[in-house]
Amino acid sequence: MKSHSTVSVADPSALGAVTSEEEELLTKLDLARLPRHVAVIMDGNGRWAQRKHLPRPAGHRSGTQTARTTIETCARLNIEALTLYAFSVENWRRPKTETDFLMQLLREYLRQEMPLIQRNNIRMRFLGRASELPAGVQQDMREAVEKTAKNTGMVLCLALNYGGRAEIVDALNEIIAQRSVDGLRMPVTEEEVARHLYTAGLPDPDLLIRSSGEMRVSNFLLWQIAYAEILVTETLWPDFNRARLLEAFVEFQSRERRYGGIREGDSDSEVPTRIAGK
Ligand code: FPP
Repeated sequence: MKSHSTVSVADPSALGAVTSEEEELLTKLDLARLPRHVAVIMDGNGRWAQRKHLPRPAGHRSGTQTARTTIETCARLNIEALTLYAFSVENWRRPKTETDFLMQLLREYLRQEMPLIQRNNIRMRFLGRASELPAGVQQDMREAVEKTAKNTGMVLCLALNYGGRAEIVDALNEIIAQRSVDGLRMPVTEEEVARHLYTAGLPDPDLLIRSSGEMRVSNFLLWQIAYAEILVTETLWPDFNRARLLEAFVEFQSRERRYGGIREGDSDSEVPTRIAGK
């Protein structure tokens, strides 16, 4: 899917003061070839808290600080879209005290972070089955979308009550409902499915980061990550600081993206071998 805008190359000074480690990483980074859409599975809050002999909520609270840094850094580097996996459809299986806490934390987060979101010209979107969330959370989500609707910078998607399979099912049901109104019988295309996903209009993620070492995609953006570069780091989410994010971008740029084609020079035929790779 094509994106709607042309994004300019970031100026590293937009990041403000940097540490010597960040400065070194910035020298390795080509700011004109950053991923367009970064998706993140923020995992490891519980383990981080456990290691510090703290209660799990302390890990989630610390995770919101990391989310803040990640959001601001991506916005300042002119990344088009950032999607954070904040709560999955499976997360309802956790104890009610924890799910209640996460909902409360999210509401607090949306209120507290609004100045940062506005300052960075960020547009907010939510991915997931919103109608199954508590009414107060839904209200805050609507307000966040409305307040940021006119912003023109990075799109920040919070995946909340999100499941990749549920998203595909929802898209298919919308298509079926539309077919029954239109009476159309033509086959469904990939473009049509993509238009009905929660991420409609956004480029597919080209980089998927998962913190805390688990080698799983956990039902996240199953359709959209078809060609994403996957980067799993051992770092627990609360420790995933700006240097770790820049390091992930450096790693992304070292990967060769072939989209099912073959490497340049590996074919002596006239057939174009590299499809859309940067
Ligand atoms: C995984 O840690 C994280 C979550 C369940 C998502 C919650 C994320 C945050 C609170 C941080 C950002 C929040 C917002 C609102 C942007 P885990 O509990 O699964 O960790 P564990 O696997 O170590 O137990």
